[in-house]
Amino acid sequence: MTARAEPTSTTFGSGKVKRPPKLKGGLPFVGHTMAFVKDTIGLLQRTYDECGRVGRFKLFGKDMILFTGPEAHEALFRLPDEVLSPNAAYKMMVPVFGEGVAYGAEPARMAEQMHMLYPALRNNRMRTYTETVARETSDIIAGWGDEGEIEACGFFGMLTNFTSSSCLLGTEFRNEMSEEFAKVYYDLERGIVAWGYIHPYLPIPAFRRRDRARARLGEMVSEIVEKRRRSGYRGEDFLQTLMDSQYSDGSKLSDHEITGMLVAAMFAGHHTSSVTTAWTLIELLRHPVFLDQVRREIHGRYVDAEDYTYESLRDLEQTENAVKEALRIHPPLFILLRAALQDCEVLGYEVRKGNWVAVSPMVAHRDDEVFRNALAYDPDRYGPGREEDKRPFAYISFGGGRHKCMGNAFAILQIKTIIAVLLNRYEFELAGDSIETDFQGLVLGPRPPIRLRYRRRA
Ligand code: HEM
Repeated sequence: MTARAEPTSTTFGSGKVKRPPKLKGGLPFVGHTMAFVKDTIGLLQRTYDECGRVGRFKLFGKDMILFTGPEAHEALFRLPDEVLSPNAAYKMMVPVFGEGVAYGAEPARMAEQMHMLYPALRNNRMRTYTETVARETSDIIAGWGDEGEIEACGFFGMLTNFTSSSCLLGTEFRNEMSEEFAKVYYDLERGIVAWGYIHPYLPIPAFRRRDRARARLGEMVSEIVEKRRRSGYRGEDFLQTLMDSQYSDGSKLSDHEITGMLVAAMFAGHHTSSVTTAWTLIELLRHPVFLDQVRREIHGRYVDAEDYTYESLRDLEQTENAVKEALRIHPPLFILLRAALQDCEVLGYEVRKGNWVAVSPMVAHRDDEVFRNALAYDPDRYGPGREEDKRPFAYISFGGGRHKCMGNAFAILQIKTIIAVLLNRYEFELAGDSIETDFQGLVLGPRPPIRLRYRRRA
C-alpha cells in the first residue's frame, strides 16, 4: 500500500487548519497536468490512494484539491456558490448555453432558471414521458425481425436522441427538424474541448462552428416558440414549461434564455442517459444471475399486455437497482468541479481563493469503506437490509447538495423503460468485443464498437 502524504498545519482565517497533503511527483510549472491529461482517472485514484480523503495536485498552474468520502462531499456541496463556484469551474459551457443562462448567469439568477424546470419533472409529465420513451423504443425495434446485431453505443445514442428531443424540445423538433437538429447539436458538442478551460472564445475552428450552431439553434427555437404562440398549441415538454415560466420579478424568459435552458437540459441528460443505458444492458449481460432477476421481474409484470405505464415502471425494483449499479460503477460524470472564489475551509482543510476543488464519483464509488466489496457489480447492495446508497452523500452519480441533478428521476425512468421494452421482446448477448471505458470526452461511456446480438423471445 502507498504511504499516505501528511498534511501540514498553517494559520488560515480564524484559526489553525491543515494544508491539504500534496501528491508526489509532478513537473516544474506544469505540475501533474501531463498525468491528468494522459490518465485522468489514474491520477485521481492515485491522489486518493496516496493522500487519503483530501489531496492536492497541480493542474495548468493551479492547485486542484480532491475531496473523497461522504463527509467531505457533504462539506463541499453545502458551501454556497459565492464561495465554491460551479459557474467559474464550468465557464467553458457558457458559449454553448449562452451568456446569461445557467453557468453564464449570476448564482441567484441561475437558481431561478433551474427552479423553472421543476414543473417539467412532475409526476403527470413523467407519465407522458414514459409513454413517449416506450413508443420511441418500440418503433425503433419494430423493423428488427427475429434476429440480428446492433452496435450498442450508436443504437442507444440514437434512441435517447429521439426520446430526449421529444420530451425536452417537443414534437416539432422530433418530427420536423430532427436532421438539422442532430447536425447543430453535433457541432455544439464538438465545441467542448480542453482549450475551453484556457479561454472559451479562442478563434479556433471548433469554437467558430460551435457559435454558428448555437446561433442557428436559437433561430430554430424562436421559430417554434413563435408558431406555438400563434397557434395556441401547448406541448407536454420542457419547451412549454420554459415558455410558461417567469422570474420572481414577473418577467418572462427571452428566446435566447429558452434556447440556452433547452441546450443545458439536453447536454445534462442526453449523453449521460445514453451511456448509462448501454452500461446497464452490458453489465446485466455480463452477470447472468442479475440478468435473470431483472428478466423475471419484467416478464412477470408485462405478461398479458405491454402497458408500460409510469406506475408499472416505477415499481420495477430489480431493474432500478441494475440501473443504479451501472451508474455507480460507471458514473458518466466522473469529476465534478468547483472554483474557489474565496478562501474557505472544507473539513478542517484550507482551500485558497483561485484553487480548483473536485469530487470524483468514480473514485468515491470504489471505496470499500463506503460500498461493501466496492469493485464488484452487485445490484443487491440497494435492496432491503443493505441500502448502501442511502448513506447521505455516499452515492454521488447525480452529484449532491444545491446542484444535485434535477433530472435523476427522469433519467432512471427513461432507462428502465428502454430496458423493459427491449428485454420484453428480445434476448441479447454480447458478440465478443472487449469492453472498455472510453476515456475521451467529458462523459464516460463504453468504447465503441460494442456489438450485441439479439433474438426474438419465444
Ligand atoms: C444518467 C443520467 C444523468 C446523470 C449521471 C447526471 C448527473 C448529474 C450530475 C453529477 C450533476 C451535478 C453536477 C455538479 O455538481 O457539478 C447533474 C446536474 C444536473 N443535471 Fe443531471 N444527470 C443525468 C441526467 C439528467 C437529465 C435527464 C436531466 C434533465 C432532463 C438533467 C439535468 C441536470 C441539471 C439541470 C443539472 C444542474 C443542476 C444545478 O446545477 O443546479 N440530468 N447531473
